[in-house]
Amino acid sequence: MIAAIVAAAGSGERFGAPIPKALIQLGDRTLLEHAVSSLSAVVDQIVVTAPAGFEDQIRSLVGDAVTVVTGGATRSDSVRAGLAAISDAEFVLVHDAARALATRELAASVVAALKSGDVAVVPALPVVDTLQNVGADGYVVNAVDRAPLRRIQTPQGFSYSVLNAIHQGAQDATDDSTLALNAGHKVRVIAGEERALKITTPSDLATALTFLGDATTFSTGVGVDAHAFGEGRELWLAGLHWPDEVGVDGHSDGDVAAHAICDALFAATGLGDLGSNFGTSRPEYAGASGVTLLKETLSIISKGRYSISHVSVQIIGNRPRIGARRAEAIATLSQALGGAEVAILATTTDGMGLTGEGKGIAAIASALVIKNA
Ligand code: CTP
Ligand code: MG
Repeated sequence: MIAAIVAAAGSGERFGAPIPKALIQLGDRTLLEHAVSSLSAVVDQIVVTAPAGFEDQIRSLVGDAVTVVTGGATRSDSVRAGLAAISDAEFVLVHDAARALATRELAASVVAALKSGDVAVVPALPVVDTLQNVGADGYVVNAVDRAPLRRIQTPQGFSYSVLNAIHQGAQDATDDSTLALNAGHKVRVIAGEERALKITTPSDLATALTFLGDATTFSTGVGVDAHAFGEGRELWLAGLHWPDEVGVDGHSDGDVAAHAICDALFAATGLGDLGSNFGTSRPEYAGASGVTLLKETLSIISKGRYSISHVSVQIIGNRPRIGARRAEAIATLSQALGGAEVAILATTTDGMGLTGEGKGIAAIASALVIKNA
C-alpha cells in the first residue's frame, strides 16, 4: 500500500492572507484540493494535516476518503502527526499543499523510483541565478558554484520504515529529505517541475495561475447598491456588525458593501446578478448575511472557472466612520472571498443626494477577475 501525507497546517505568514494558505483559491479550487487531487490517482491513502480549528472545514473540502488530522507547530511536527495516522504502508509520499500544481505524473515518478529500490526520493530543479555568500556587512564573501546545486521540491517519497525512523525524535527541518540525509540514508534525485513551485507569496499565486491554462484572460465589473436607513434595524456593513449605528431597510441584512461586491463579481463574469442568483426565486437566501452571499458568489464564479484577482469597494455615506475598523472589514471580506485581495474606501458626498442627506448608505465596487481556460 502507498500512503501520502499532505502538509497543510501552516498559517501562510509570508502570504499574508487572513485564512490558512492551503485554503487559498487557485482557479476553480483551493491549493489543498489541487494537491490532494494529483496524489489521489497515485496513492491508496491520503492524510491531510490541518491547521488547528480548520479540521471540519478541510474535511468537507476533501471528502470522506481522505483522513484529516491536526497538524503541529512546525512542518516536521505536522508530518509526524500525519504519519501517526498511517499503519501498514510500504511507501509514503510527503507533499506540501503549497506545491498545489505538482502533477500526478511527478507523484508517479517518485513512486516508480521507490519501487525500483530507492528509500528516499526527491524531485529537484537546477538553480538559474548566480549564487554568492554575503557577509553581515553587506559585502560578498565568495561566489558559489551553482552547477551541483538543486532546488528541492515535493512530493518526496520514502519507504515507510525510513520515514518512520527519521521522525522518531523531535527533529525539525524544512523538508523530510534533509532529515533522511542527516540520518545517513541515500536520497535519490529525480527531475522536478517548474509548476510544482511552492506558493509562498501572492506573486507566486499569479505565477501558478499561468500554469493553469494558456488562455488566461482578465475581465472587470462594477456593482452598486444603496439602502435607506430604517428604525429598529441593526447595521451590517462590509461583513461587520456596527452596534451603535442605525441599520438599513431591506429583506437581507442590507450590507451594501457586500452586495455591491457580489454584483461587481457577477458583472465581471457575466454570471447574472444578485437578483438572478439569490432573488425571490431562491427563498433559501432570504435574510442571508452579506458574508454568506459573498461566499456563495465565490462558489458560483469558481465553478465558472473564474478566480478573483482584486476587489475594491467604496462606501458612500455620512455614517458609520469606516477608518477605525477598515483592517477588520478587509479581513472579513477577504476571508469570505477565499483570501482575495480587498480594498475598502469610504467617502461622503458634501451633503448632496441620498446618502449626503443622511437618508442611507450606498456602495460602489469593482472587481478584477481571471478566467482560467
Ligand atoms: N506546514 C505544516 N505545518 C506547519 C507549517 C507548515 O503542515 N506547522 C505546511 C504548510 O501548510 C505548507 C508546507 O508545510 O503546505 C510548506 O510550508 P510553507 O510553504 O512554509 O507554508 P507556511 O508555513 O504556511 O507559510 P509561512 O512559512 O509563510 O508561514
Ligand atoms: Mg513555513
